[in-house]
Parts: sequence; structure tokens; C-alpha cells
Amino acid sequence: MIVVTGATGNVGLALARVLTEAGEEVTAVSRAVAAAVLPDGVRHRPADLTDPESLHPALAGADAMFLMLPGNDVRLDPQRIVDVVVSAGASRIVLLSSQAVGTRPDAESYAPLRRIEDVIERSGLEWTHLRPGAFASNALAWASSARAEHTIAAPFADVALPVVDPQDIAEVAATTLRRPGHDGRTYVLTGPEPISPRQRAHIIGEVLGEPITFVELTREQAREQLAAAMPEPLIEGTLGFNGAPTPEEQQVNPDAATVLGRPPHHFTDWARRNIRAFREEGPRS
Ligand SMILES: NC(=O)c1ccc[n+]([C@@H]2O[C@H](COP(=O)([O-])OP(=O)(O)OC[C@H]3O[C@@H](n4cnc5c(N)ncnc54)[C@H](OP(=O)(O)O)[C@@H]3O)[C@@H](O)[C@H]2O)c1
Repeated sequence: MIVVTGATGNVGLALARVLTEAGEEVTAVSRAVAAAVLPDGVRHRPADLTDPESLHPALAGADAMFLMLPGNDVRLDPQRIVDVVVSAGASRIVLLSSQAVGTRPDAESYAPLRRIEDVIERSGLEWTHLRPGAFASNALAWASSARAEHTIAAPFADVALPVVDPQDIAEVAATTLRRPGHDGRTYVLTGPEPISPRQRAHIIGEVLGEPITFVELTREQAREQLAAAMPEPLIEGTLGFNGAPTPEEQQVNPDAATVLGRPPHHFTDWARRNIRAFREEGPRS
């Protein structure tokens, strides 16, 4: 049995689907009971990662775990989380980390992920770290203004990043959870091409079949918007990654294609699969 945390999120939900289709027994974990969105046959066990003991019911009988750390909670204790996984008898853990753990070793916003990578490596578990770059699904933050005003507003209009499709992250995770040969490996996951916010907005308009107006926000306007959703260190990390990426963060990395055995999805593929969010209110497709 495989435990999937963050199971109602961008990566976790896709992973629960991939694993179920592959015939795996899956236990989905999130705080809210959202069984309706989960694939048939997936059992849901509510747990809060800030209270690691609450993971025990989900971990009973687990062989492996996909671990997602919510990025904005100072109460997370990586050592206690990993101790609970080890004590439950699971043998393998796949961590959803971040490319910035490698490219921004001193950034405070990525310290919890850096810490849990270290803790996992010393745990005795078989491990794989997934370090994705910026997600294609960050464009969902644009959905309400695209629906209401046919407008997308974003900072750093022409700064291109090879955004990665959460579906690809999920498929890499599924492979590393199910197949041998990935123990002790760290994979940097990107999409197939650097693509700017202006280009992403244009693609969404093309897939919608409706013109979308792009408005470039200043860094300060972007900071104000982010302040509603995340604490200060994360805001700085997000603005830094999107506004002043390092050369490595702008490059396509081959790891996703190597593990998947196919090229990673383009942003256009993600937009086609998720276009409903830009067209109407409702659950993710
Ligand atoms: N977005 C990016 O560009 C990017 C890039 C690199 C790495 N990452 C990493 O990717 C992760 C986010 O992945 P995602 O986009 O798939 O997630 P997401 O869509 O934001 O969903 C978060 C999931 O985690 C659950 N969750 C949140 N807080 C929890 C808690 N305290 N205890 C248990 N479950 C909790 C949520 O359900 P409930 O709210 O019901 O609990 C939900 O299922 C973060 O670790 C982030 O650092 C993101």
C-alpha cells in the first residue's frame, strides 16, 4: 500500500489517479475529507502534517509514502514526521521537494525542505527526492480574473522558466515509488521549454479560443497579492524564483524525460487539460 500526502493537491491528486490506474492500493492523506474528488477505490485518512502522530492510521500497513510538505507552516517538524514513517514500518519515501533547495542553498523559504531532505537521507529508508521547478499549475492563480475580466495580470512578464506539469511530477513519483533503481537519487524536474508568463497567458487565450489581455504587475503589486496567501519568507522565495531565476532554474533538465521515457508535457498540454478552470467555476478536471 502506498500513502499519498497532499492527495487533494496538484501533484497528489494526479499521483493518486496514476497509482490507482496502475493497480496499486492507495491511502490518500489531507486534512479535509474530500473523498468525492479521489479516484474510486482510494481510501482517505485525514491527518495534519503539523501533528505527525495523526499520520498513524494512514500509515498502518504502508510499504511506501509520497511526502508533500505544505510550504507555509512553521509548525512542521521534519524529524518527527520521518520518525513516524519509520516507526510505521514503511520502507520507501519519495519527497516532493523543490529545485530551489539545490539552486538557492541559503534561502530561508526553502529551509524546511532542505531539512527534511537531510533527515530522510539519514533515516534508513529507501529515498528519492523530487526537486521540481515552478509548476505549470501556478497559472490557476490567474483563473478567476481570466473568467471574470478576460485578463491575466502577472509580474516578470518576459522572464521565461521551464514550468513543469504536475502530471509529469506525479508520473515520475509513481515510477520511483513502484520501480527499483531510484533509491538515493535526486531528480530535478522541469518542462520541455522555458516559457514566460506573457507566453503562458497567450497560450491560455488560444486554448480558450478567446482573447486574453495580459497586464504586467510591478514587483510591489505582486508582493501585495502574494501577501494574502503566504508568509514573508515564502513571498521572497517566490518573487526571487520567478523574477530573478538562476541560469540553472531557466534551463531544461533531462531528468523528467529520463525517468518518464518520453518528453515532459508542454504548458499547452497542461492548459488543454485544465482549461475548464479558466472558463467556469467548478472542480478541477
Ligand atoms: N508551486 C510551485 O511552483 C512549486 C515548485 C516547487 C515545489 N513546490 C512544492 O510543492 C508542494 C505543493 O504541492 P501541490 O501544488 O501539489 O500542493 P497543493 O495543490 O497546494 O495542495 C496541498 C495539499 O496538501 C494538503 N495539506 C495542506 N496542508 C496540510 C497539512 N498541514 N497536513 C496535511 N495535509 C495538508 C492539502 O489538503 P488540505 O488543505 O485539506 O489538508 C492538499 O491536499 C509544496 O511543498 C511546494 O513547496 C511547489
